[in-house]
Amino acid sequence: MPSLLACDFGHLEPEVHAVEVTGVPGLHLDVMDGQFVPNISIGVPIVEAVRRITDLPLDVHLMISDPAKYIEAFRKAGADSMTIHIEAVPDPRPVLDKIRSLGALAGLAINPPTPLSAIEACLPHCDLILVMSVMPGFGGQKFEDIALDKLRELSNRSDVDALLEVDGGVGLETVGPCAEAGAELFVAGTAIFKTGDYPATIEQLRSNAQSMTGAH
Ligand code: DX5
Ligand code: ZN
Repeated sequence: MPSLLACDFGHLEPEVHAVEVTGVPGLHLDVMDGQFVPNISIGVPIVEAVRRITDLPLDVHLMISDPAKYIEAFRKAGADSMTIHIEAVPDPRPVLDKIRSLGALAGLAINPPTPLSAIEACLPHCDLILVMSVMPGFGGQKFEDIALDKLRELSNRSDVDALLEVDGGVGLETVGPCAEAGAELFVAGTAIFKTGDYPATIEQLRSNAQSMTGAH
C-alpha cells in the first residue's frame, strides 16, 4: 500500500491515480503533529482532498499525541481505517472502540523499541496492528529487523484476528521477509514514489511478497 508521504504533493491527483491503476488495496496517509513525532505532515484537509479523488480505502496513520480529539474529523474527512500509537495513549481501548463505533477499522501501532506486551490488553479492540519497522516521523529510513520478530509472534497466535500491517523501510528487499513473517499489508513510501515506474515497482513488490508466502 503506497504511503503518500513520499509522493509529489504538488501533483497529488496524478500521483494518486498513478498508483490506483495498479490495483493497490488502499492508500496510507501519515498524519504528524510535530509533538508525538519530530515532524509535521498532513492533516484533515489533505485526507478530504484525497477522498475526493479516489474510492480506494484510506488508511490514516495518526502519529499524534491526542488522537481521541481528532478521530471524528478524520472519519468525516473519509478515513476508512485509523491507527493510533500505543506510545501516545496510555489506555487506547476507549479510542479504538470509538473508531469502531464511527464505522472505521481500528488500528494500533507499535514502535520498534516497544515490546508486544504493551499492547496485549488492547488486542481484542483492534482490527489492525501496525508494526513499525522504523521510528515514526520520516520516510526513507532503514528497516529494523525487530519488526519481523513481532510479526512472527503475532501471526503465530491463534487468538489474534487483526490484520497485520508493517510500515517503514519496506522495499524490494524487505517485503519478502515481512510476508514470510506474517505481514498482510505492506506500507511503502520511498520504495514506490522515488522510483520512475510505479506500476513496475508495485508489481515487483507484490511478486517478492508472494514468492515468500503466496500473499497479495
Ligand atoms: C514513517 C511513516 C511511514 C513512511 C514510510 O513515519 O509512518 O508510513 O511514509 O516511508 P518509507 O516507506 O519511505 O519508509
Ligand atoms: Zn505510516
